[in-house]
Amino acid sequence: MSSFAEQLRSFYSEHPFIMAPMAGVTDGAYRVMMRRHGAPLAYSEMVSVAGLHYASERTWELVLPAAEEPSIAVQLFGSKPEQFAEAVEAVEERVGDRLALIDINMACPARKVITKGEGSALMDDPLTAERIVRAAVSRAHVPVTVKIRTGFHSGERVAPAFAEMLEGAGAAAVAVHGRTAKQLYTGTADWTVIDEVAHAVAIPVVGSGDVFTAADAARMLGETAASAVFIARGSYGNPWIFRDARALALEGTPVPEHDARERLTALREHLALTHELVPRAMARARTYATWYLKGLPHAATWRGRVVKCSTYEEFRALIDEIERDVEAHEEALRDLGSPTARASVPNDGDPLR
Ligand SMILES: Cc1cc2nc3c(=O)[nH]c(=O)nc-3n(C[C@H](O)[C@H](O)[C@H](O)COP(=O)(O)O)c2cc1C
Repeated sequence: MSSFAEQLRSFYSEHPFIMAPMAGVTDGAYRVMMRRHGAPLAYSEMVSVAGLHYASERTWELVLPAAEEPSIAVQLFGSKPEQFAEAVEAVEERVGDRLALIDINMACPARKVITKGEGSALMDDPLTAERIVRAAVSRAHVPVTVKIRTGFHSGERVAPAFAEMLEGAGAAAVAVHGRTAKQLYTGTADWTVIDEVAHAVAIPVVGSGDVFTAADAARMLGETAASAVFIARGSYGNPWIFRDARALALEGTPVPEHDARERLTALREHLALTHELVPRAMARARTYATWYLKGLPHAATWRGRVVKCSTYEEFRALIDEIERDVEAHEEALRDLGSPTARASVPNDGDPLR
């Protein structure tokens, strides 16, 4: 096992819950938000090595960490080994000391990606996959890791053998999403394949799939031989999940509740980060804002309103309004007094409609 693999294993043993890469989601603002609240590492959105070859500044925006990010994992996708070699050099040069690792995407099932032989299509082309890893490792001064799925075709379970091949090519860790590419995001993730991969290789394995709560994350760590767990959709509106999962898994601390006020404060913080760091992505706030509003009084009404906001100012004004409504709701509960009276107050009924 390479020293990079050992380094990662020791990092994961202290910090097992990692922010997963998500295209269209994990921009600078999202990463800073998750890191401030407990994610020990976060990945860039996936970046095309062909895009980096033609060096548009727009593509580099996906790669470069925000000033506040202490480190970043950069995920690359493509199909040409020589472009990976070139991209590794360029990413190392531009990101510098804050580059934690370079990950190669062999998991993306999107049609426009797989039709070019990229992403999960590489699981169906192990020779090219191996050449890509060797090319990347030959130029890298940081760990090169790979993210895969159970297999490419329906019912296929090549991940353990494929991971052995990746290890032989020099990968320092492998992440496994327990679904085949053909499954996309349907059905349930199979965690047994994560366990099988972890037994097949000596390098550390990161498990992924259907980790929606801190309890799910702790359970994946306990039930499989994975060294770490990717939190992807489970971070939606829940930046505390990393710290909560770690406290639960490592110290047995029960998961605390994050109430309406805490959620609104977090949403304000996330919006401010988007406004400051990726103002072009303000439209994304419509989606993530609805995640933070889950479970709030009159959530359906607020969801309907938030998806109509366009500017930072509109979002802020709406949150002020929601905050006043939460206060009024809490006051009504206090006035009602007894716990039984409280229980009879409809929490998700929607008198605003
Ligand atoms: C919106 C979205 C975008 C994603 N983009 C990427 C990506 O760019 N690279 C990648 O390796 N995985 C990507 N994934 C997969 C996640 O990293 C993760 O493996 C998957 O969502 C399973 O975990 P979960 O069920 O806990 O969400 C994406 C997932 C989602 C939902």
